[in-house]
Amino acid sequence: MTPIPQSILTAAAVSIDPLAPPPRIDVRGAGVTFALANAPARTVLSSIDLQVRNGEFVSLLGPSGCGKTTLMNLMAGFLRPTVGTVAIDGSPVTGPDPRRVVIFQDYGLFPWRTVLGNVLFALESRGERGPAARDRARHYLQLVGLTDAADQHPHQLSGGMKQRVAIARALSVAPEVLFMDEPFGALDTFTRFHLQDLLLELWERSRITTVLVTHDVDEALYLSDRVVVLGERPGRIVETIDVALERPRDRRAPELHRLRDRLLEELRLAGRWARQKPEYDI
Ligand SMILES: Nc1ncnc2c1ncn2[C@@H]1O[C@H](COP(=O)(O)OP(=O)(O)OP(=O)(O)O)[C@@H](O)[C@H]1O
Ligand SMILES: [Mg+2]
Repeated sequence: MTPIPQSILTAAAVSIDPLAPPPRIDVRGAGVTFALANAPARTVLSSIDLQVRNGEFVSLLGPSGCGKTTLMNLMAGFLRPTVGTVAIDGSPVTGPDPRRVVIFQDYGLFPWRTVLGNVLFALESRGERGPAARDRARHYLQLVGLTDAADQHPHQLSGGMKQRVAIARALSVAPEVLFMDEPFGALDTFTRFHLQDLLLELWERSRITTVLVTHDVDEALYLSDRVVVLGERPGRIVETIDVALERPRDRRAPELHRLRDRLLEELRLAGRWARQKPEYDI
């Protein structure tokens, strides 16, 4: 038998580096099947393997209905997998956890509370009260440029301002993981660009492990270290693309455009694959 060259053994050893830190988020063989009344059960996610490293910014990209929110809900603890496992920092995710926060598209602000009151709410729910909590809340409002709006109520704010409150509220509690579900989907292009830059600035300071759900290819490429593309029926990972470009990125950079073409092709194939298959439920 021909001996295996030492160089190959070394390469193999490096690819499974035993000293590499464990992934912060670890999804293995996960699937979700919903039981439906008067209809066969519906499998919406299948065989999902996804590892997110500590401090990494990962986007989940895919067509509407492919299961992006369902996958985020699994990781955030709002939903348990039907099969497979979901763990964060080595412990199974069994429900929502104050160390992880979620920002939704619809802001999720309390209309009866002021801007400051909304940020304070997050701190109060973690037992932080009094002048220190107020200072902290004001600090985060300042970071998102809302110092002057502290005493206003949500109905007095634009969509971009509301989402800035939501970002301040989420980050004020210094979470270990930040989940976002299409946070900028309802905003106009320029407000979206502005908030993407703000988010990046805050992320660079904190390096919070971040998972962003989006159907916006450019947003995923502009923000992420890695873009995970999901296909449909059932939702599954069809491609993962590393975006090894320095930040801040130039939205017009040729390299981003090349990656964009690749992602669009992946999405087209994922959609076509889904259409060619008969719709089925397990
Ligand atoms: N509780 C539920 N019961 C049954 N089906 C569900 C449930 N929640 C989600 N689904 C189905 O799972 C599929 C994936 O939904 P999900 O919300 O994860 O998609 P998505 O990729 O986030 O879509 P969008 O981009 O439109 O937000 C959809 O077909 C949806 O109808
Ligand atoms: Mg969704």
